[in-house]
Amino acid sequence: MTGNMTNAQSQEGLLVHGLTVSYGKREILHGISLDNMRPGRVTALLGPNGSGKSTFLRAVAGLTASKGEVVLKGRNLATLPVGERARIGAYLPQSLPPEVHLQVLEAVMVARRAGEGVSAECALSEAMEVLEGLGIADLALRYLDELSGGQRQLVGLAQALVRKPELLLLDEPLSALDLRYQFAVMEAVRRETQARGIVTLLVVHDLNIALQRADDVVYMREGRLIGQGVVMDVTTPDILADVYGVRTRLEVCPRGLPHVLVDGVVEDSSEEEQRY
Ligand SMILES: Nc1ncnc2c1ncn2[C@@H]1O[C@H](COP(=O)(O)OP(=O)(O)O)[C@@H](O)[C@H]1O
Ligand SMILES: [Mg+2]
Repeated sequence: MTGNMTNAQSQEGLLVHGLTVSYGKREILHGISLDNMRPGRVTALLGPNGSGKSTFLRAVAGLTASKGEVVLKGRNLATLPVGERARIGAYLPQSLPPEVHLQVLEAVMVARRAGEGVSAECALSEAMEVLEGLGIADLALRYLDELSGGQRQLVGLAQALVRKPELLLLDEPLSALDLRYQFAVMEAVRRETQARGIVTLLVVHDLNIALQRADDVVYMREGRLIGQGVVMDVTTPDILADVYGVRTRLEVCPRGLPHVLVDGVVEDSSEEEQRY
C-alpha cells in the first residue's frame, strides 16, 4: 500500500523548468519552474489579469517562443516534431472557436481525424461519445455559427478532448458558461483527466471553483510563480493577499466544501513600511 502511494506520488507528469517568455524586449515570464504535475490531476492556474497565465499555457503548448524546459512523462516537448507535440498536448485558447458554418459533429470529427488515420466511422462514434460526456449531444447537428458563446466553448472543449491528449491546457474554459455548464464542464474535465491519466492545467478566475473542483493550484503574479501544491494546502489568506491584494477568509460549509470570502483590499504595504 505504502509502495503504491509512493509510486503514485512520484509518477512522472509535467515538469517545467525555467520557462521564460519575452515579447520584444519585454520579459513577461521570468523563469517559471514547477514541480511535477501528476497525471490524473486537475491543476488550476490562478492569478490577476495580465499576470502571464495565457502566456504560460501558450509557452507550454509550444505556441510561443520560450526559453526553459517543458518535460512531459520524460519527453522534452521542444525536441518532438510539431505534429507529435500537437497530438500529445491539446490547447484550448481563451478566445472562442470561430463562428464557422460547420456542424458541431463535423467540427469535432475533423479535430479527431487531424493528422491521424482514423476512419470516419471511428471518429464519428468517438465524437458522439465526447459530446455526450459534455452533455451537449443534442447540439451535434447544429451549426457553430448559430450557437451561443458558451455552447461554442463547449464544442472547443470537445475538440480538445476527442484527440485524447496526454496534456490538456485550457485557458478560461468556463468564462462564457452559465452556472450549470460551469459545473458540468468541470466535472467532465475531472472525469476525463482521471480516466485517461491526463495532466490538466486550466485557468479559472473563480477561486471557489478552484477550491472545490481542482486538485492542485499554481498561483502566479507578474510573470512569477507564487505558490504551487494541493489546493487546500497552498491557499491561505496570506497567499491570496500576496497574489490578488485582497483580504480574505477561508471557510468550510456544513457539507465540507471550502469557500473563500473577500472582505476587502490589502492596505498598500509600501506605505505601511514607510510609517514604521
Ligand atoms: N502577443 C503579445 N505581445 C505583447 N505583449 C503581450 C502579448 N500577449 C500578452 N502580452 C502581455 O503579457 C502580459 C501577460 O499577458 P497574459 O499572459 O495574457 O496574462 P493573463 O492571461 O494572466 O491575463 C500582459 O502584460 C500582456 O499585456
Ligand atoms: Mg489570459
